[in-house]
Amino acid sequence: MERAVLLKSSYLNFEGRILSTRMISREEKYYKIALNDGKILDYEPGQFVMVVIPGVGEAPLSITSSPSQVGYFELVVRKVGMFTSVMHTLEEGDFVGIRGPLGHGFPLKMLVGSDLLFIAGGLGIIPLRSLINYVMDNRRDFGKVNIILGCKTPDNLLFTDELESWQKRADVTFSCTVDRADPDWKGNVGLITSLIPGTDISSERTYAMAVGPPIMYKYVIQNLIKKGIPENQIFVSFERHMKCGVGHCGHCQIGSIYCCKDGPVFLYSAIKNNIEAL
Ligand SMILES: Cc1cc2nc3c(=O)[nH]c(=O)nc-3n(C[C@H](O)[C@H](O)[C@H](O)COP(=O)(O)OP(=O)(O)OC[C@H]3O[C@@H](n4cnc5c(N)ncnc54)[C@H](O)[C@@H]3O)c2cc1C
Ligand code: FES
Repeated sequence: MERAVLLKSSYLNFEGRILSTRMISREEKYYKIALNDGKILDYEPGQFVMVVIPGVGEAPLSITSSPSQVGYFELVVRKVGMFTSVMHTLEEGDFVGIRGPLGHGFPLKMLVGSDLLFIAGGLGIIPLRSLINYVMDNRRDFGKVNIILGCKTPDNLLFTDELESWQKRADVTFSCTVDRADPDWKGNVGLITSLIPGTDISSERTYAMAVGPPIMYKYVIQNLIKKGIPENQIFVSFERHMKCGVGHCGHCQIGSIYCCKDGPVFLYSAIKNNIEAL
């Protein structure tokens, strides 16, 4: 059998074949991709890849699958502009270039043995799903798991089957809220921050992972600190505009920090002064 080659290079462009696609909401399309020639993307949850479409350009996209799923990886793309519109026309059997995995993700070794609080706002569920499913696949390595999800409306929820399966698990506490309900919605209505005060967590044992739109961070972090979680136990992920993805062009720079190569996942204590200046 051919030996799989583990890929860690940031610069090389590998060919990826789209194994399947499906729309998972009105604006978001899911892609299952395998690299050609038996190559395997060796990534950690929270990392991203540059997807290259020849003649069109490239864009940073978070890996949403768990590294415990070997042989393929998954992406979810919201159509917002030129690149993502072309990406949405691609289907099973089409090819894309893949550069990566890039950046730093969540440090799995540091999280082992701790309680975990996940806070995903909007598309923040895309990178967090990678870590959540890794934790589900290795459940005995972690303490209590608490997942808080928020989005604008119920039809913005992604991966609804998976959300339901997490909600049903006895070893997971799951809550979800929407900013605006529709007539069928039976859950919470309100901002994601409204769910943090009521969470039953032990602050000294808990690592919090918050990913969402920039506006969410300030209030989520205030609430986490009010719950007693130390700043060096809070992880955030920053999706700044990026070009090179490897620390050369400066597009993603906040002060002395390059989000592409130093992040996108940061400990809040390490990036606090930089983001307060934004
Ligand atoms: C590390 C990282 C991970 C990402 N992961 C995902 C993902 O998993 N799924 C996904 O759909 N998108 C993700 N994005 C955003 C994605 O890269 C952009 O939406 C894409 O590059 C837009 O390209 P475009 O040509 O279609 O649109 P453009 O014409 O370039 O932009 C359209 C609109 O989107 C805004 N936009 C573009 N890039 C960003 C950005 N980085 N942050 C905020 N707004 C932006 C522009 O300001 C503009 O208003 C990620 C970005 C980063 C930096
Ligand atoms: S995207 Fe070029 S330095 Fe980060």
